[in-house]
Amino acid sequence: MKVLVVGSGGREHAVIRKLAENPEIDRIFCAPGNGGISVQAQLVEIKATDVEGMVAFAKKEGIDFVVVTPDDPLVLGMADAMEEAGIPAFGPSKKAAQIEGSKVFAKNLMKKYGIPTAKYEVFDDPSQVIAYIERENQFPAVIKADGLALGKGVVIARNLAEAKEAVHSIMEDKIFGKSGNQVVVEEFLTGKEVSVLAFTDSHTISPMISSMDHKRVYDNDEGPNTGGMGTIAPSPYYTPEVAKRCMEEIFLPTMEAMKKEGRPFKGCLYFGLILTERGPKVIEYNCRFGDPETQVVLPLLKTDLFTIMRAVRDERLGEVDIQWSTGAAACVVLASGGYPKKYETGLPIEGLDENGGHPGVIVYHAGTKKQDGRFLTAGGRVLGVTGLGETLPQALEKAYGAVREITFKNAHYRTDIGKK
Ligand code: AMP
Ligand code: GLY
Repeated sequence: MKVLVVGSGGREHAVIRKLAENPEIDRIFCAPGNGGISVQAQLVEIKATDVEGMVAFAKKEGIDFVVVTPDDPLVLGMADAMEEAGIPAFGPSKKAAQIEGSKVFAKNLMKKYGIPTAKYEVFDDPSQVIAYIERENQFPAVIKADGLALGKGVVIARNLAEAKEAVHSIMEDKIFGKSGNQVVVEEFLTGKEVSVLAFTDSHTISPMISSMDHKRVYDNDEGPNTGGMGTIAPSPYYTPEVAKRCMEEIFLPTMEAMKKEGRPFKGCLYFGLILTERGPKVIEYNCRFGDPETQVVLPLLKTDLFTIMRAVRDERLGEVDIQWSTGAAACVVLASGGYPKKYETGLPIEGLDENGGHPGVIVYHAGTKKQDGRFLTAGGRVLGVTGLGETLPQALEKAYGAVREITFKNAHYRTDIGKK
């Protein structure tokens, strides 16, 4: 079989390495992929958002199954376009992907179906947002652009001045384009954050092992938000009791709600949760695997990923017995100095073998390029180094041991992943 994976980050590398374990798959293609991914997959130079180009390639190449991994192509309807062309695809339809594509849609869904989340108001007029925030006078105030914003559409404003600036740049300067036509203002919640990815075919929902992301660029959660600087799995805060509550109050109700709305969700549904004193609440939904959550979750999956993905697509997930390892995983991201702002690329990476790996760990490539047999940096997040162990401290020790031996000019990583 020939499988095409759409996307180019560490998450896609993790998906591909897991798919490659299935002997039925002869060839894996990845569009556009990266240097490290080229070891397991044939790279195809098509942008992840080029729906027409991707479908044309899949038809021409006789692809048997497509995995649409990133949010943008899903929100653009790439999974539907593949299915319409007769190519089975893993990933939600355009209608279902709105659960991530529009925060207003997601919040209204939760309100309608009683799914616990922060209280909120929706606005399309900047002066009304400011008036509301002034009237409420509750800080920090959480302001979210409605649409996709490269993970940067959430502002936690500590005071009125910051709130005004955020509203101005999102709604008037339109730094995220149309995504800022509407904003959600919501209550600030406190508690431990947990990510739970779940396979669902819209009839069955099967949560994966929980994980915890570290979004800020510097230690002690300082500095600007990034795509994610490291992850651990499982989250020690996600106890069996919390898991049971999440299943009853959040996971099943969300799956049912999407079905009732005529938007059955098939694929990987990501629950960004916060464990408040009053129980778990949803901070955000994503319509896809998280990055770098996938880099700690999939290595702990014992069941064949391709079998699961096909069962999701065929709506027979209930027939698959999904098994997880009892161990732990930790991923430390090596980023380019300066990320998430300006950074240099094209720098040679030292400490990788000819396959882009390193002994004792799994090295997932996020932003690399292969040139004359060497790996060069090509993005903000460069590598995700995952260590596995019986316990979290063991997993962390392995990951950090390797991270200290892999380097490039101005490389930056957090030294406190998993410390909390
Ligand atoms: P998101 O892009 O929706 O994942 O939001 C980015 C981050 O903002 C989250 O991981 C949380 O740390 C924080 N955040 C979002 N919404 C809230 C909220 N209502 N209360 C507290 N923190 C929040
Ligand atoms: N790590 C957060 C995300 O993938 O959105």
